[in-house]
Amino acid sequence: MELCVALDLPTMEENLALVEKIKAYPVWLKVGLRAYIRDGEPFIKALKKINPECKIFLDLKLYDIPNTMADAAESIMGLGVDMFNVHASAGKKAMTTVMQRLEKFESRPLVLAVTALTSFDEAEFGSVYGEKIALKADQFAKDTYEAGLDGVVCSVFESASIKSLTSDAFLTLTPGIRPFGEAAGDQQRVATVELAHQEKVDFIVVGRPIYQAEDPASVVAKILEKL
Ligand code: C5P
Repeated sequence: MELCVALDLPTMEENLALVEKIKAYPVWLKVGLRAYIRDGEPFIKALKKINPECKIFLDLKLYDIPNTMADAAESIMGLGVDMFNVHASAGKKAMTTVMQRLEKFESRPLVLAVTALTSFDEAEFGSVYGEKIALKADQFAKDTYEAGLDGVVCSVFESASIKSLTSDAFLTLTPGIRPFGEAAGDQQRVATVELAHQEKVDFIVVGRPIYQAEDPASVVAKILEKL
């Protein structure tokens, strides 16, 4: 299991200061919407300057018509990131189009699809998708697998079921991790590192419990011990 640290701080300077503090640890860095919209490619370059070995997950959750998503995926190739994601609800055709577009490159980042956001509870999810979270997450995961992506973003509670439906090698990445019982914030389906491990999760994403801590490096070290 690998740890992805969400760089969700209010300014680029704060995000870079966080990365500087934790650069000794083998973690992935997650660049989300706020950081990318605000700081763009220079931020990605600055991360690599601090730690040339770091792996970067660009969490932009693409959702659009197939051709626009494939165009965006092709542009992402120029950034040199190691993983990015799309929404599975954009449909199997959109996901297949993205993967076909990346075929011409010798190597490509890992591509994941979001099944159900971990901030959804059953009631809100039902009002959007008209289905129970677990059922729909399984269906989205099957679509993602059949479209040739590398894995899904899901909650810890769906990981094992998704792997049994697809393959053990099909990756699961789970946000909503609260390693030491911290506040859930806006996350509804939170879990511990131990449960993530039991449920065969490949990547855990941790944001607030690390970047809001007084000593982020020691929290990272403690989480890595548990992996
Ligand atoms: O602070 P916290 O640990 O809740 O951060 C979780 C991170 O994972 C945030 O950056 C959030 O955007 C992201 N994320 C999520 N749920 C998803 C996909 C991504 O919480 N399904």
